[in-house]
This record gives sequence, C-alpha cells and structure tokens, in this order.
Amino acid sequence: MKFFVDTADTAEIRDLAESGLVDGVTTNPSLIHKSGRKFLEVVEEICGITPGPVSAEVVALDHETMMKEAEVLRKIADNVAIKVPLTIDGLKTCKALTSDGTMVNVTLCFSANQALLAAKAGATFISPFVGRHDDIGFDGMRLIEDIRLIYDNYMFDTEILVASVRHPVHILEAAKLGADVMTAPPQVIRQLIKHPLTDKGIEGFLADWGKTGQTIG
Ligand code: G3P
Repeated sequence: MKFFVDTADTAEIRDLAESGLVDGVTTNPSLIHKSGRKFLEVVEEICGITPGPVSAEVVALDHETMMKEAEVLRKIADNVAIKVPLTIDGLKTCKALTSDGTMVNVTLCFSANQALLAAKAGATFISPFVGRHDDIGFDGMRLIEDIRLIYDNYMFDTEILVASVRHPVHILEAAKLGADVMTAPPQVIRQLIKHPLTDKGIEGFLADWGKTGQTIG
C-alpha cells in the first residue's frame, strides 16, 4: 500500500521522506490555508521533495474554470495530480484531463456509487473520506470495502486512495481491505511506529548490553 502524506507542511514531508515513508502527498484548500503559504509556491516545493504524485485541488465549481485552473496547476511539475470534487463538473474535468495523460484525484467521495462514477470518468485516484464518515456515526471502512469489491468486479484501474484518516486503525483496515493508497497526517503516520513493547524491549536490551561493559567500534 502506498503512503501519501496529507499535509502542506514541507518540513514534515521532508522529515518523513527521509524514512522512505512518502510515496506521494495530498493537499487541499484547508491544508494550504493552514500552511500560510502561497499555493503554487508550496506545491512546487512539495513536488521537489517527492517524485510521487502531489495532489493540488482546483477551487472552481464549473468545468470550464476547473480546466483553466488545472492548466495552471499541472504546469508546476510533472508529478502534480489535479484534485477535483465529485460533482458532474468535476467528473467532466476528470475525463478531459485523464484523456490527455494528466493524473486526477477525485476527492470528497462519500458513496460507492460516486466512486463508480469516478472510475468510469477515468480517475487516477478516488479519495473516499473515511474519517468524516466516522465523525457522523457511520463506518467509513465499509465504504472502502464496497469500492474495492466494485473496482475488482470490473477491473477498474482507478486506485483507491483512503483519505480523511484519523488514526492507525484506519490504515490497518485499509491495508487489510486492499486499498491501493492511504493518505494521512504526519502525526498519524508516526503513530504507526510506536509500540510500548518495542520501547520496553530496547530498554531491556540496552540494560543488559551495559552489563557487558563492551562498546561497538
Ligand atoms: O485531504 C483530503 C482528506 O484527507 C482530508 O481529510 O477529513 O481530515 O479534512 P479531513
């Protein structure tokens, strides 16, 4: 499963990239606002940190203007993936962009039927938001299960990019269900590393090593 980092914080991306945990990056207008930086500049910097897909979202609501915004965004770098919302205009834009080889991430997906439409529109990635489902008392991972079944039934090439990830269990469940990609905030990715028994094991090994009176090198 590919790991994308859901942030526009370039310091965080650089830090995680050093450990090989960054296969791509997703941003959205809220994350750009949070970064406090100019949209095109921060996306360009991110594209230089990772060779993987970097999602940059259009903000227009109509197809014609989405295409104009996409033209600006895809000139930033070859690894820019254009993010469009799951609306009829977003699907039209998806179809047009993927038809000429541009990666498209269809976002704000909340139903398997929406995901089916995105695949038919040629989406590179579909972003079902599991956390926002959980936030209103539904089980977001059942959405992933349904999409995986439908995509496998018809051998769609669209990659399932599990988004709105809130905690490590979302990532575990996504991997068990066979999602292609997950995108998570840096702190959630870091939570995957930690286990109290690992910390306890290191402590015990070092205590016993200290008793040997030896050093390495
Ligand atoms: O960036 C897309 C998605 O991961 C955002 O999730 O619900 O944390 O805003 P959320």
